[in-house]
Amino acid sequence: MSNAPLKLAVIIGSVREGRFGPVVARWFSEQARRHGSFEVDVIDLADARIPLELPAVPPALDPDLQRPEEMADLTRRLSAADAFVIVTPDYNRSIPASLKAVIDWHYTQWDAKAIGFVGYSGASGGLLAIEHLRQIFNELNAHTVRNYVSFPRYYLLFDEDGRLREPEEPAAAATAMLDQLHWWATALAAARSLEAVG
Ligand SMILES: Cc1cc2nc3c(=O)[nH]c(=O)nc-3n(C[C@H](O)[C@H](O)[C@H](O)COP(=O)(O)O)c2cc1C
Repeated sequence: MSNAPLKLAVIIGSVREGRFGPVVARWFSEQARRHGSFEVDVIDLADARIPLELPAVPPALDPDLQRPEEMADLTRRLSAADAFVIVTPDYNRSIPASLKAVIDWHYTQWDAKAIGFVGYSGASGGLLAIEHLRQIFNELNAHTVRNYVSFPRYYLLFDEDGRLREPEEPAAAATAMLDQLHWWATALAAARSLEAVG
């Protein structure tokens, strides 16, 4: 196995105009860089074109399927990642359609990788979306870590400059989640490389 730092892709799941997702992702990517155990890549789904019309053959049956040219950069970055943190709000007690579409367009990119979550929304703080993501990623043979970060009523927790009014508790939650994510990402990267050798 190589000694290169593991790659963590932080995915901003919402794409709507005026969204709050990038503020949460900026805070979390600062925590991840400070943690120091990952090389961090922030993937904003708003930068990609993600058609809702999925291919005729599911990615599970044809992992190398032809994807739209505009999705190539996104696919390359998902493939390169050893671990993911999904930054997601609750949309009608579930996940944004943009996030579901990008998950469904891919397959091997999630396989045997570690996944953590940062949620935000009204009262439920992204937890309903996170629980749905655990089910979805189970089908994709990914491992979702136990710890998470949740921001219920996020609009009370961040100030107008996008800074947390009381940062200590969320920072501790992020560290705990990143510790678990790193443990699992290391174990899974080793297992994938053994498998690749045969
Ligand atoms: C389509 C839609 C559905 C929503 N459903 C919920 C919900 O079920 N529970 C909740 O607490 N907040 C809900 N909200 C409020 C969002 O959590 C809040 O608007 C948040 O800022 C959305 O993330 P975004 O700004 O990154 O798009 C919903 C917002 C939208 C746009």
